[in-house]
Amino acid sequence: MNSKDRKFNIVIAGGGSTYTPGIVMMLVASQDRFPLESLTLYDNDAERQKALGDAIAILMKEQAPGIRFSYTTDPKEAFTDKDFCMAHIRVGKFAMREQDEKIPLRHGVVGQETCGPGGIAYGMRSITGMLEIMDYMAQYSPNGWTLNYSNPASIVAEACRVLRPKAKIINICDMPIATKTRMSYIVKKDPKDLDVRYFGLNHFGWWTSVTDELGNDLMPQIMDYVAENGYLTQKAIEKQHMEPSWQETHRKARDLLKVEPRFLPNTYLKYYLYPDYVVEHSNPDYTRANEVMNGREKRIFGAAKAIVEAGTAVNGGFEIDVHASFIVDLACAIAFNTHEIMLCIVENKGAICNFDPTAMVEVPCMVGSRGAEALCQGEIPTFEKGMMEEQLAVERLVVEAYVEHSYQKLWQALTLSKTVPSATVAKAILDDLIVANKDYWPELH
Ligand code: NAD
Ligand code: G6P
Ligand code: MN
Repeated sequence: MNSKDRKFNIVIAGGGSTYTPGIVMMLVASQDRFPLESLTLYDNDAERQKALGDAIAILMKEQAPGIRFSYTTDPKEAFTDKDFCMAHIRVGKFAMREQDEKIPLRHGVVGQETCGPGGIAYGMRSITGMLEIMDYMAQYSPNGWTLNYSNPASIVAEACRVLRPKAKIINICDMPIATKTRMSYIVKKDPKDLDVRYFGLNHFGWWTSVTDELGNDLMPQIMDYVAENGYLTQKAIEKQHMEPSWQETHRKARDLLKVEPRFLPNTYLKYYLYPDYVVEHSNPDYTRANEVMNGREKRIFGAAKAIVEAGTAVNGGFEIDVHASFIVDLACAIAFNTHEIMLCIVENKGAICNFDPTAMVEVPCMVGSRGAEALCQGEIPTFEKGMMEEQLAVERLVVEAYVEHSYQKLWQALTLSKTVPSATVAKAILDDLIVANKDYWPELH
């Protein structure tokens, strides 16, 4: 068959995720450039899967009747003969995210989905879930690619590297592309015309260059803006990251820039550079997990229910966002070997010259049928290198603790996190996290 005539088979793992409808909408809208033979949703929670699956079945019948659609909780059915698995699972669901955020806060420490003790706790749960998905893909679709959004992406990526080195998996994050959209708005350009250089770990990085399609340097203009407003824009230019707590995060980039005025910061650096500020501005009884449960989760599942009741998805409440377009662009680039440049989380192998070659770093990559190949970003300065080495050690210790069932190493991981003030506090948080995660973590000794 001519490669241009190929049709692809996709499974979305975590089919009951709030992000599934957006990705499905994007896939449907991309049929001219990325045609599908079949689409399957897979989740291990039958109720969540059915709630979204029934609504998406209606949407697919109306908008893409030529694509075979199904949803299932059966791994063999889900993963057999797939070209791509798009994964976004949340092991422990929002109930455990709430614990990840509230337990550290009770000890006066940042409570966040992917950063600090909360991210470490989530990592210890996600590794098990992601190994399961990778093993299903290896068994039922050994040639298929897994494109993974499941967080915490850095820890998941390190676990893949160590535990499943041969897996065809690319880990990704939507934050850089979402922030790039904000940058393009600031300079009044099309996001596709912005060319960037970037280095870091996931949720832990910096842009060193932003130029336009003619090579003009846009950094001075963006920096002037960020120095005043952070990445906060007057107009709502994103569908995600819009609630007041996110607005506050975009604005805080202003203070991140003060610490390193040469580069544009990833918003997540606020948890590491201003943890005291973050804790002061957190409500320990109502965290982001509560906001999401009362916001996005209610909205998406409400929209699904309305579609099922109406029997039609016409004027339904599902929307495409940057998150959805990024993962579809990535699949497309692999499928058609386009050599597009995208930020992915890959093994360093010298891309950041003066950093551990085996570290899983987030850098611009050339994407094609071989996957994501890192582009050289040169040497990084002492400040960023120091921060990244500390954070990399945290992530490595988590994976080692998982593999060895080591309490000691997980305590060291928490102790080393820049968000935690002392070994005493680290131990107190860890002991609470162990109790809360007893159904999910390997038993530590
Ligand atoms: P969600 O809870 O709505 O969806 C996650 C789904 O995964 C749930 O339906 C759950 O039942 C399912 N699940 C849990 N464990 C599973 C397993 N072992 N196998 C199969 N399914 C399983 O969460 P959400 O807010 O929609 O987010 C989904 C995931 O995407 C999270 O990990 C989130 O952190 C991640 N995410 C990542 C990025 C990024 O930049 N990398 C961006 C957005 C979301
Ligand atoms: C960004 C990050 C994701 C993270 C999400 C959390 O998109 O890149 O990694 O999962 O924000 O958003 P939420 O709305 O769930 O707090
Ligand atoms: Mn992310």
